[in-house]
Amino acid sequence: MSHSAAPIITVQQHILQDQQRFPGSSGEFSWLLSGITMATKLIQAKVRRAGLNDMLGAKGEINVQGEIQQKLDVYSNEVLIQCLSARESIGVLASEEDERPLLVHQGSEQARYAVVFDPLDGSSNIDVNVSVGTTFSILRRPEGVGLDDPQKWVLQPGAKQIAAGYVVYGSSTILVYSVGNGVHGFTLDPSVGAYILSHPNMRMPEQGKYYSVNEAYRDNFPPRYQQYLDRLRNGTLGHAYASRYIGSMVADFHRTLLKGGVFLYPPTAENPDGKLRLLYEANPVAFLAEQAGGTAIDGTRRVLDIQPESIHQRTPLVVGSRVELADFERFVLEPETPQAVASE
Ligand code: AHG
Ligand code: MN
Ligand code: MN
Repeated sequence: MSHSAAPIITVQQHILQDQQRFPGSSGEFSWLLSGITMATKLIQAKVRRAGLNDMLGAKGEINVQGEIQQKLDVYSNEVLIQCLSARESIGVLASEEDERPLLVHQGSEQARYAVVFDPLDGSSNIDVNVSVGTTFSILRRPEGVGLDDPQKWVLQPGAKQIAAGYVVYGSSTILVYSVGNGVHGFTLDPSVGAYILSHPNMRMPEQGKYYSVNEAYRDNFPPRYQQYLDRLRNGTLGHAYASRYIGSMVADFHRTLLKGGVFLYPPTAENPDGKLRLLYEANPVAFLAEQAGGTAIDGTRRVLDIQPESIHQRTPLVVGSRVELADFERFVLEPETPQAVASE
């Protein structure tokens, strides 16, 4: 009998291999990530039963962003905090749902990582059975910063992330993550509760077929963004683009990672920084995009170079394939011609 089938690799095995990139971490990094895999399994189980156990609908509390918190937002946040605060190596947790970062293991000098997360992204889609997700970013405690200053742990540019990823609770549950060594995807086998390597070394196609943006706001985008969307539609980049927009960033990005193309959340006059949050939405996605051969900018700058000033700060986001982003940078950032200025 031959044994030619591909080996089955779980996320834990994969992390143990990746861990060799962090000398001296002796298991603590895989223990940390297992907190995330555990929490996201619990969240997905609840999401899968959302219509059954009265978890649907708004909880009625307003979160720090001024939006109505959904019950599942609250549950997901609690589960992540419960799972991650059991890890001694984590000193600080920061979440979309909490105004301030949470200090855990106060006094423990072993604590040297911060985890920043959006516990449930796209939560307005829950009520209609559309994909939602969790995004996370892991940072190392900066040299010389004490346990009494959790803000400083997390206000670091995205380029300093040592790992980042997301989980999409879609038609299947998939975990996608990177420790700076390529991007790998693990599909949850719900019958055994294990994330199994299904997408090794993910690469974003050089160019795609779709653009992804909330087109209802188009009239409020800067004129150059509007013209860029016209270029995508009118074949300037070689073919006429179709559009896809789910309204869960994590799901829209996941499609862009697999199929290529471009996802945009542009600035508007009313919201000059767009809607998405830098630390736990744009940064993890930008890290993964670059690791997969794509590009992520805030309209002018590389997302990963932005020095954050506050935990919940927003940023415009343009992320996607090399070809679409190169055209954006050429067309949108080039000095405006007198004609273009006249027509605006
Ligand atoms: P969250 O549910 O965490 O608040 O995030 C929702 C975000 C993001 O997932 C998505 O890309 C965006 O909201 C959609 O916003 P619009 O409805 O303005 O398009
Ligand atoms: Mn979100
Ligand atoms: Mn959220």
